[in-house]
Amino acid sequence: MNRSVLFVCLGNICRSPTAHGVFEQLLRDAGQSNSIKVDSCGTGDWHLDHAPDRRAQLTAKQHGFNLSHLRSRLICQDDFRDFDYILAMDNNNLRDILALCPDQYKNKCQLFLNFAKELGFQEVPDPYYGGDDGFEDILTMIKVASQNLLQEILVNI
Ligand code: 4NP
Repeated sequence: MNRSVLFVCLGNICRSPTAHGVFEQLLRDAGQSNSIKVDSCGTGDWHLDHAPDRRAQLTAKQHGFNLSHLRSRLICQDDFRDFDYILAMDNNNLRDILALCPDQYKNKCQLFLNFAKELGFQEVPDPYYGGDDGFEDILTMIKVASQNLLQEILVNI
């Protein structure tokens, strides 16, 4: 693997698995599955080993992305060494991972939407307690940021 990407949110059942499934599909479409590793995790432990939220799965499926094989896990210390891009969905997630991250790896951690400045949002908002619209909105944001991220990685490989 030439590069590696880790998506991080709070529960690892809505936003980061959506990003994981979308990015995985983009890698397949681009023939890059063997050169770029992708994973996702959460900072909170309420949903360990759970499949993604059914609303996240349904919305993703309607747009051609499969999330059913994913299972929630917590971020761990090895992740900071093992991944090149550690991408937080919101500022709380970023603060939480920076608090765990060894100084030498802190520059790997940033907001995912840094890759989608054109959207005009800093954060992918937590859709968990909202309606189904929230899941459509985050999917749109995640698709744009994922496409841009893949382009950036491919020009730097
Ligand atoms: P996520 O959404 O961080 O995008 O996976 C959430 C999922 C679960 C909870 C919060 C956010 N929760 O409080 O259980």
